[in-house]
Amino acid sequence: MSRVYNFSAGPAVLPEEVLTEAAAEMLDYNGTGMSVMEMSHRSKAFQEIIDSAEADLRELMDIPDNYKVLFLQGGASQQFAMIPMNLMKNKVADYIVTGQWSKKAYAEAKKYGKANKIASSEDKTFSYIPDCTDLPVSDDADYVYICENNTIYGTKFKQLPDTKGKTLVADVSSCFLSEPVDVTKYGVIYGGVQKNVGPAGVVIVIIREDLITDDVLPGTPTMLQYKTHADAGSLYNTPPAYGIYICGKVFRWLKRQGGLAAMKERNARKAKILYDYLDESQMFKSPVEAKDRSMMNVTFITGNAGLDAKFVKEAKAAGFENLKGHRSVGGMRASIYNAMPEEGIKALVAFMKKFEEENL
Ligand SMILES: Cc1ncc(COP(=O)(O)O)c(C=O)c1O
Repeated sequence: MSRVYNFSAGPAVLPEEVLTEAAAEMLDYNGTGMSVMEMSHRSKAFQEIIDSAEADLRELMDIPDNYKVLFLQGGASQQFAMIPMNLMKNKVADYIVTGQWSKKAYAEAKKYGKANKIASSEDKTFSYIPDCTDLPVSDDADYVYICENNTIYGTKFKQLPDTKGKTLVADVSSCFLSEPVDVTKYGVIYGGVQKNVGPAGVVIVIIREDLITDDVLPGTPTMLQYKTHADAGSLYNTPPAYGIYICGKVFRWLKRQGGLAAMKERNARKAKILYDYLDESQMFKSPVEAKDRSMMNVTFITGNAGLDAKFVKEAKAAGFENLKGHRSVGGMRASIYNAMPEEGIKALVAFMKKFEEENL
């Protein structure tokens, strides 16, 4: 067996320990004589899996009792519609647009009410996070929306916006569980798990209980109401059972690593190795403002598309996979989620140095 260093933005690298455990349990989960994939979601064994996954996530993120944890489907993209459908009581919401994902969420919200773009960094190709200390938040806004870590551009909100008392809704798909967060600052935290938490097919929504009501936009399908899933403990219909089981294993792995404070320390150290090199390199540079750099998605460019392509090709041949930047921006991107070992980043930097010497 040989494993590559996988820098994919998602689906992405998972902890090897988790994959090994899942492999060992593939044919017979915990004496049940069947795989979790084959198990009824109404069984006692699965109920224990989902209950312990939720309990471990609550412990990791210190989620208060007045927040529900929902394991849903439809990816992060489905939340772009579910959020306005469930939360737009006044039919007004404010969006901070810092990349393609918040832009899509903003466009979707416009279908359901008045969505206002109250800040944007599109003027400089989303290479920074706008100043959000004194935004023109609408008096009647039902919520203020952000994408906390911009997977494509490699930027991250280091400070949450001042929402002037309005509910904050955050897409944390690409920074989920990368560091501690204060859940009480948000009304809704959600993310597709396929980047930092588990396999594609599960989206986790952490939502304050008072936001879960029957008062949703007319015509909202049953499956798109948070209340449906909250009332049924995420088991209204067949859930993405195997994905939830793997997420549960990742939560336990994170606890063994020392929890989110330890992950933050580790992630900061890992990102620094790459950013320090980008800052000293004559060939590669980071296109984003230093103060807004993501610890999870590190974008870099040479300024020459041909050289970028040569680098990606040679890196792949050397065992560094998925370094090509998002198709909309080009360049390179190293996604260095929780499960990427520090050695992977050190090896990448050594390879980049060699490439620089050979091609400058
Ligand atoms: C920040 C962010 N939000 C949303 C999405 C869309 O996720 P999904 O494919 O689960 O709908 C992505 C996917 O890459 C993302 O990075």
